[in-house]
Amino acid sequence: MSDTRSDAFVFFGATGDLAYKMIFPALQGLIKAGALDMPIIGVAHGDMTVDQLRERARQSLEEHGGVDEAAFAKLCKQLRYIDGDYKDPATYVQLKQALGHARCPLHYMAIPPTLFDTVVQGLATSGCAEGARIILEKPFGHDLASAKQLNRTLHEVFPESHIFRIDHYLGKEAVQNLLYFRFANTFLEPIWNRTYIENVQITMAENFGVQGRGAFYDEAGALRDVVQNHLFQVTALLAMEAPMGREPAATQAEKHRVFQSMRPLDPKHVVRGQFRGYRDEKGVAPDSQVETFVALRLFIDTWRWAGVPFYIRTGKCLPITSCEVMVTLRRPPLAVFDALSAQQSNYFRFRLSPEVVISTGARVKQAGETMHGEPVELVARHHSPQEGSAYQRLLGDALHGDASQFASDACVEAAWAVVEPVLDDKTPVHEYQPGTWGPAAADALTANDGGWHDPRPEETSPC
Ligand code: BG6
Repeated sequence: MSDTRSDAFVFFGATGDLAYKMIFPALQGLIKAGALDMPIIGVAHGDMTVDQLRERARQSLEEHGGVDEAAFAKLCKQLRYIDGDYKDPATYVQLKQALGHARCPLHYMAIPPTLFDTVVQGLATSGCAEGARIILEKPFGHDLASAKQLNRTLHEVFPESHIFRIDHYLGKEAVQNLLYFRFANTFLEPIWNRTYIENVQITMAENFGVQGRGAFYDEAGALRDVVQNHLFQVTALLAMEAPMGREPAATQAEKHRVFQSMRPLDPKHVVRGQFRGYRDEKGVAPDSQVETFVALRLFIDTWRWAGVPFYIRTGKCLPITSCEVMVTLRRPPLAVFDALSAQQSNYFRFRLSPEVVISTGARVKQAGETMHGEPVELVARHHSPQEGSAYQRLLGDALHGDASQFASDACVEAAWAVVEPVLDDKTPVHEYQPGTWGPAAADALTANDGGWHDPRPEETSPC
């Protein structure tokens, strides 16, 4: 971790959607925490004045978390705005002036990936990249070749330690807890391997569609939008070995080993789906083959995980919004009492959103004369989510040069290599009815492992 704190925060795409939903709330949160006493410079080609941007920031906060008048007043005072075309060198001349004596500005690319190259070159030519850090939104690249190209472009201007590839899942409390829970508890390690674990399932379900992001989504699809990044990062945290120390590089190295050990996806183990009505969305091609659902079986060829299937499933317009990990243990070697089906095995359940839950599924004897059992769930942690804070946490880390919760160049490239064989239309896309668990073809993937575990509304009351 670097001990230089950034001394200016610049965000490109200041008038855009991401700034509206995520960045303004994170900035207000950081100011409230006393962690952002520096110029904040928005850049966009939005035909706006700084006052209009301030007004937009207020609206953003009203909709996303609420306005804290004191923090908002400071935000307005610190906020500058540069209205300019990203292709025009004059934009960067203005930015350089606005940066003044800043020695370590942090530039946030809250813009479409197609513009990354242009802006990076603009920053380099104008001198705005000197000593600077950069944050890039996902998806990082469109495939392995473009990710490599983007890394090359960035490395010409920024050292790797100054590049922050953001994946907001890594800023989530529940996701960070996966790592903590695994390595802060003695009881887990002896059983956290192929000898005891039957399979791992990760389901990220959303009960809404593309929410006006059709044009973006039709270029991406579920594999690029959330699997190659969010869900693979979750997989890596579940599967990695203990890091050799607290330095960010130690965690990155272990994650990288996991990505390298993932077998490139086999088209036979991937089912893509598209919800009925997707093609009518604004910005979506009328004959689009892009997936809004994907289910897959993944293998990690390490001593710990050989032969254990990792099932990953995500989709839009599913019955519920929830992200949940289910780690199913093998059944006891003999059925001394009840003969147990695959669904009656012990398990660990990690609810990552919207609630935060860690629980263990066990069996106890039913009261009565016979030795019959029933399932119980022991809830280890359950509290309300702290949404909105993932971006705040990650921006705060980047301002301090702490890359622990960001994706490294090597990890991003290795993750692309895994999905590469199944990107685009290498497998058919099956239509599914909104409000269902996707196309029936996905059921075959888990048929030998007791089927999919569908997250349900959380019943346990928060403690
Ligand atoms: C984003 C994807 O990265 O993550 C969206 O682009 C998705 O399509 C979102 O809806 C989910 O994030 P969260 O934090 O709401 O689970």
